[in-house]
Amino acid sequence: MGTGKGYGKSILFGEHFVVYGLPAIASALGNYTEAKVEVAEGKDWELEDERPATEGYKKEKYDEQVDSINRVIEAAGIDLSDKKIKIWFGGNLKAASGVGASAASCAALAYALNEEFNLGFDDNKINELAYEGEKGYHGTPSGIDNTAAVFGGLIWFKKNMDGGANTMDKMKSNAFKIVIGNTGKTSSTIKVVSDVKKFKEADEENFTQILGQYEELANSAKEALLANDLGKVGILMNKNHELLQKITVSCTELDSMVEVARSAGALGAKMTGTGRGGLMIALVADTDSQNKVAESIETLGFDTMKMDVGI
Ligand code: MEV
Repeated sequence: MGTGKGYGKSILFGEHFVVYGLPAIASALGNYTEAKVEVAEGKDWELEDERPATEGYKKEKYDEQVDSINRVIEAAGIDLSDKKIKIWFGGNLKAASGVGASAASCAALAYALNEEFNLGFDDNKINELAYEGEKGYHGTPSGIDNTAAVFGGLIWFKKNMDGGANTMDKMKSNAFKIVIGNTGKTSSTIKVVSDVKKFKEADEENFTQILGQYEELANSAKEALLANDLGKVGILMNKNHELLQKITVSCTELDSMVEVARSAGALGAKMTGTGRGGLMIALVADTDSQNKVAESIETLGFDTMKMDVGI
């Protein structure tokens, strides 16, 4: 039996803007999806998906998941006309929009296939396979989610718009505390990314201006993170949320969680990931503040996760 793990992620800065070649900063989460793969008699593959998940998530993503699994198997060069593989997904990452659940499962599957079939792939090749799988969910993914899922830690990521290798720098910062709030709403990354494209095409000048503001913000965020200036990081997260509101990818639930988290003392808060549902992330100074912010979000009726990231 082959086994593998892929980590969830949280985008601290730059979702959507990363699709247009601007830098983004993501942190892998400690939670992961685990895959097990076993060869059996028959042909094709079958799946037992035991990941914990937001209600409705697995059903809504099923067709994309099938496409994604086929892509990873094909990219690994495995022929299933004379054998079957049984795939199992589990782990402690709760599958939800915004947490990088699709990328985590693609990376976990790629690692498990690598082990079961002795393919000898290194992390870069696993990342390529996971990126291939992400296309089933995203269409034209930037690659940030699978990169975080494979390499972990805090990363500065820039998509190579000419199709060459992407920039991926590991960033060193002290660990910091976050609270994640879950709208419980599953969103389609393909749809939201394509709506942003329409928004861009409707007013190119406005979009270019927003990209310019974001780029400045991303560079300041990198400096602030490297200097462990969390107060500044928080302020920049708030600004990043405003830019995401401008490109219409936030929603009422995300905005209200962001507001309540800031009022409860968060250093900064923003939506994270695709948006129009999914998750928000709040940066907090200490455990006491983490508890207060989580409680304030729960009062609105949303689930939360408290985590240490950035290591
Ligand atoms: C989704 O986690 C992040 C997006 O920027 C899409 C992508 O980067 O491919 C919305």
